[in-house]
Amino acid sequence: MKLTILGGGGFRVPLVYQALAADDLITELVLFDSSPDRLGVIDSVLRGLDLALPFTATTDLDEALTGADFVFAAIRVGGAAGRIVDERVALNLGLLGQETIGAGGLSYALRTISVMTHVAQRIAALAPQAWTINFTNPAGIVTEAMRAVLGDRVVGICDTPIGLVRRVQRVAEAAGLGGPTGAGESVGAIDYVGLNHLGWLRGLEVGGRDVLPAILERDDLLDEIEEARTVGFDWVRAHQVLPNEYLFYYLFHEDAVRSITEAPATRGEFLLEQQGEFYRTAEAAAQAGNSGHAGAERAAEVWASALREREATYMAEARDEGEERREEDVAGGGYQEVALRLMTAIARNRPERMILDVGNAPTGSGERLVPQLPHDLVLEVPCVVDGSGVHPEPLRSPVALDQLGLMARQRAAERRIMRAALTGSKREAWLGFSEHPLIESPQLGRQLLDDYLAEHAVLREILTEEDHSES
Ligand code: G6P
Ligand code: MN
Repeated sequence: MKLTILGGGGFRVPLVYQALAADDLITELVLFDSSPDRLGVIDSVLRGLDLALPFTATTDLDEALTGADFVFAAIRVGGAAGRIVDERVALNLGLLGQETIGAGGLSYALRTISVMTHVAQRIAALAPQAWTINFTNPAGIVTEAMRAVLGDRVVGICDTPIGLVRRVQRVAEAAGLGGPTGAGESVGAIDYVGLNHLGWLRGLEVGGRDVLPAILERDDLLDEIEEARTVGFDWVRAHQVLPNEYLFYYLFHEDAVRSITEAPATRGEFLLEQQGEFYRTAEAAAQAGNSGHAGAERAAEVWASALREREATYMAEARDEGEERREEDVAGGGYQEVALRLMTAIARNRPERMILDVGNAPTGSGERLVPQLPHDLVLEVPCVVDGSGVHPEPLRSPVALDQLGLMARQRAAERRIMRAALTGSKREAWLGFSEHPLIESPQLGRQLLDDYLAEHAVLREILTEEDHSES
């Protein structure tokens, strides 16, 4: 099986490589990245890890995709520098500057959708049978755009819903809730619905019993679940759900804007500095060994220590906030594991239940998971994955009206942005910014569009239509 990783120069790629090498599912691995420098560094790191799985690295997209069985897409269009612009422009207007949520997320979507639509077209031409696993953010709307080209052969993934499910499962088992579970039993029925980074866990069966109502009653158990602590026990009880961690930005919008504004650096600024340092040091280490094996081993050591440092910072930050993070919540964010589990379920016909980003209805059929939403809208819902593909499970109950409203407004704004990216319409982009539930202002929408256009050169190439004819 051939796997192509798009974004092959990424910091987390060695984690994926280690996971793949511990298994014999993937026999051919190709790394693609548009940056030869980043790709070169990760190429050295992987060689230095001394694992048996062979791989090649290329900056030629078509060469990388040809004949792939799986494509794993995790790219960051505009890099960390682009992320910082997304954050700062919004924060300067008193709005949320965050990677995937609010104004920042829309700006990120606007420049990413054109690229990922092109990628989807190349996959359709060169690897039409491939399964594409999209981690590229904002994963919901990006997957939706790719789905217009690839249909059901593309699914989006995120590590946050499964993270929540695992925490709840662990708490339930430790408290002896639920029915008896077999050793190593995979997760039971999950009642989760939403969009990517905007979802709700409404029930979870452990040993055949829904454990959520009992957990919601007990402070000591809720205290173990980060998502419940951040939004408050009264809120989760009132709604009888546990939220995806990103719901915090909707419920505590002003607090989030304030704390990001007051912090010495945004997340993007922090990562640019930290990663810049890693790529420079690792490159120097590889070169000191004349790009030979000794150099690669040193690059791998630099990577391993950068990873340890990242995890230590994360744990320390959590402690400062009065939390104890557990190792399993930190290790790589679960990113590599989700991808490998999905590929294994398909390639080995090993049925797995996973929360994935899929169409509201399969292409070509009318049966919708959420009847009120468009058939081609991408939802994040539990699916059973097996050798015949990805099968969303019917929802266990209708979506509450307030949740439906939030999902609809969020995706309506993102769809405007998608149309803007595909047609070049400035008017669609303006409406997208204006109508987002965390912005809600045509004036601020106009200002955001102007400021992002001024700061992101690439957006001036994408948005070329003034829409005079319609105004
Ligand atoms: C989680 C989310 C991803 C997001 C990442 C950000 O893993 O599910 O969608 O990209 O966090 O992590 P970072 O370290 O880049 O801030
Ligand atoms: Mn995610």
